[in-house]
Amino acid sequence: MGIIGFLKNKGSKGSKVKEIMADVSAKQLPRHVAIIMDGNGRWAQKRRLPRIAGHRQGVEALREIIKITSELDIRYLTLYAFSTENWRRPRDEVNALMSLLVEYLQKEVDELDRNGVRINMLGDIEGLPDEVSAEILSAVNKTKHNDKLQVNIALNYGSRAEILNAVKSIVRDAVEGTIDINNMDDTLFARYLYTREIPDPDLLIRTSGEFRLSNFLLYQMAYTELIFTDKDIYWPDFDRYTYLKTIQEYQNRRRRYGGIDAGEGET
Ligand code: IPE
Ligand code: IPE
Ligand code: MG
Repeated sequence: MGIIGFLKNKGSKGSKVKEIMADVSAKQLPRHVAIIMDGNGRWAQKRRLPRIAGHRQGVEALREIIKITSELDIRYLTLYAFSTENWRRPRDEVNALMSLLVEYLQKEVDELDRNGVRINMLGDIEGLPDEVSAEILSAVNKTKHNDKLQVNIALNYGSRAEILNAVKSIVRDAVEGTIDINNMDDTLFARYLYTREIPDPDLLIRTSGEFRLSNFLLYQMAYTELIFTDKDIYWPDFDRYTYLKTIQEYQNRRRRYGGIDAGEGET
């Protein structure tokens, strides 16, 4: 089952959540979940609302997903909030998205801090408006000692730019003699990425039925399990039940990393 179609079970969702939560908690959980929160615009369009209403509703979904991730003791959650390509959108929408983020951080940072959440940012912070970067730096700083759940916000993030910047820094360090290029391996390379010190995602979720990565964590997702929801599940629709079902599907996957399953090579 590559695409998940559980909206069909909508009627009995509530009663099933507890049961699924218990099942999911008893099995091996992903250590790091990454999410491409897609479909806010279409969610709004469907209701004849302005796109920004969809982004607003998306924040509500986000709040709930952070809560469940923490309840499940998942250690890292990475959220794609704004890509380097999203600057191509109308100025009003870009401004609204930035304001929404600032508003979210202002409102929520204290509670996130109380709940042991550490906020981290992935992306080009210098390319953001001053008030946005200031708010982020303050949230990062305030929560830096927390270690229950690390929430990485990918903002003004592009994977190709990240890799290219890593290569530039590596060349610079090699020329200066601080690294020996002959000793370069995956581990050292990964230290030049925004995600240094963060394990690769185990699970990627993209909502709204788009089957692409849109320049997100291309290097880090070499062996990530990918789950794309049905096209009628936009990000604002992504609730506790849907999230738990997605994790359940992840738990049914067999990760081989190029090898074979235990026991398979014995004949
Ligand atoms: C995702 O929803 C949010 C961001 C990209 C910030 P979209 O705004 O991409 O919604 P659709 O894909 O147009 O429906
Ligand atoms: C990816 O979604 C970026 C975020 C969710 C922040 P987009 O909606 O921008 O991606 P495309 O344009 O459909 O590939
Ligand atoms: Mg989109």
